[in-house]
Amino acid sequence: MSNRSYYIAGNWKMHKTRAESAELAQALVSQLKDGKHKYLVAPSFTSLETVSAIVEGTNVRLGAQDCAAEEQGAHTGEVSVLQLKDLGVQTIILGHSERRHTYKEDDALINKKVKLALKHGFEVILCIGELLEEREAGKAEEVCETQTVKGLEGVSAADLSNLVIAYEPVWAIGTGKTATPEDADAIHAFVRKVIGKLYGADAADKIIIQYGGSVKPENAAQLMAKENIDGALVGGASLKTDTFVPIAKFS
Ligand code: PGA
Repeated sequence: MSNRSYYIAGNWKMHKTRAESAELAQALVSQLKDGKHKYLVAPSFTSLETVSAIVEGTNVRLGAQDCAAEEQGAHTGEVSVLQLKDLGVQTIILGHSERRHTYKEDDALINKKVKLALKHGFEVILCIGELLEEREAGKAEEVCETQTVKGLEGVSAADLSNLVIAYEPVWAIGTGKTATPEDADAIHAFVRKVIGKLYGADAADKIIIQYGGSVKPENAAQLMAKENIDGALVGGASLKTDTFVPIAKFS
């Protein structure tokens, strides 16, 4: 995997109260302190302040699962980058398939959020990935290319160094079905080529591309062994130390 380092992130989605979040964050901080890779946890908005105090100054970064497309204003129910920065958030996950498909976020909205988050100095994890019917119709590459190109419209080469891509085939998320390491690596290699066309070979070589979709302790090492897979975005298995720590410490 070239000189890229591995990046393992946990997306807690809409799970856990503050007390439950604190318990998991404390356990992760202590069990990952000798971990060799880059780590992140993304709790719900309501737990960010609690988890922020626990992970501050450790090797576990704090992530948010989304942000508003505007800095502030009349946007009932939304959370802004300014508010996230105030809580110590370092990274924002954008374009998650649940945002795209359940909440109908399109590439233009996601692109607006990506640019706003980068402008405010956040690291961004941009999620891309095809639906099952798109894969079956032979359109996986086309969908991933479109989501990458449109998601990054207007993003400078300098800002790209703060951007991570997560390839998450929608049919593999929360289903227990994982893409084979070979199929995942093929899309990762393709997306790296897309980045090369947009930003040049050096940027393509450096960009971290995580895989997401039913990553478990049993399949993490095989996925990570692939040339173009640089880490994981983990949902279900990130909710317990028993399953997240072995993924985070895969060898
Ligand atoms: P999963 O979710 O690991 O539960 O499949 C991955 C994700 O949505 O990021």
